[in-house]
Amino acid sequence: MDQKKTILSCIQPTGNLHLGRYLGAIRNWVEIQQDYHCFYGVVNYHAMTMPYNSKKLAEQSWNLIYQLLACGIKEENLFVQSLIPEHTELAWILQCNTSFGELGRMTQFKDKSQQIKDKDKDIFISAALYSYPVLQAADILIYKAHYVPVGKDQEQHLELTRNIAQRFNFQVGKEYFYPPEPLFTRIPKVMSTADPLRKMSASLGEKHHIDIFSDEKRIAKQIRSAVTDSGEGPTDVMSPGIENLFNIFRETDEQACNHFLEKYESGNLAYGEFKMALADSLVEFTRPFRERYTEITADKKAVRHRIKESSREIQKVAAQTLREVKELSGLI
Ligand code: TRP
Repeated sequence: MDQKKTILSCIQPTGNLHLGRYLGAIRNWVEIQQDYHCFYGVVNYHAMTMPYNSKKLAEQSWNLIYQLLACGIKEENLFVQSLIPEHTELAWILQCNTSFGELGRMTQFKDKSQQIKDKDKDIFISAALYSYPVLQAADILIYKAHYVPVGKDQEQHLELTRNIAQRFNFQVGKEYFYPPEPLFTRIPKVMSTADPLRKMSASLGEKHHIDIFSDEKRIAKQIRSAVTDSGEGPTDVMSPGIENLFNIFRETDEQACNHFLEKYESGNLAYGEFKMALADSLVEFTRPFRERYTEITADKKAVRHRIKESSREIQKVAAQTLREVKELSGLI
């Protein structure tokens, strides 16, 4: 085999691929495909850990796949988690090497269980939400990934993955798993244009995320109606709304962004003109994605077939690891 290192990352099929998700993760996934062996998973088992709709899950998963492909993820690097049952099987073995206490300390578990409680106290918190980080560890370790591109919010899960790997190694008396490292890249901070104090997120609702696959008019409108500043607060600091628009602009057209930044600094920024230019720029920036999406979805059946095929290929790697793990663990 060649010297390329292995990368693994996964995305949950919840909500659309909005601008924050694209700039924060997927753009980087696409770029690093050149230099690494990449495994990218659509993790539908993870998406079931929160209250979910079983009538919609499959459609959401496929749609995310079309969108990932439209962004430039290669088919052969993409798999669907539930098509590779080795992940959940490994997760069981790893759960036996994970302490109950450390799972309880995961901030994502605390946040998400709080979200459920706040929303509806009659909905229960699933055991799977609690053990979710172990499945994530299995996703990573099963491909012996060296690097995991993730955001800061996943740092704790990665730390846990390293602990689990070491504990497993100690248990079986062999340095079997590598402790994977996070791969942090330059990630622009993309906030909701409707509420620039909150991160752009699908779960906040329609107006809080810009869907790069929605039609041009909608994208332009979302920029035009973006919150700029409230007119309160100190005028010598940039408002969060304006800062967010500049951050987005920097990604779509740096030159134009700098031009408007100079205007801002000299006190001559006309918000209307600024937003219009950003809206145009963002529409252009996202156009290739929409065009690719249209092409890809022209024959959904063929795409589904090929992704099942690539999942089967990737499964071979997972199956090999699981065989070794079972043998080391004393399983028959
Ligand atoms: N937990 C990640 C999230 O909330 C998703 C995920 C599942 C993941 N398995 C993974 C990320 C493995 C990186 C590696 O988005």
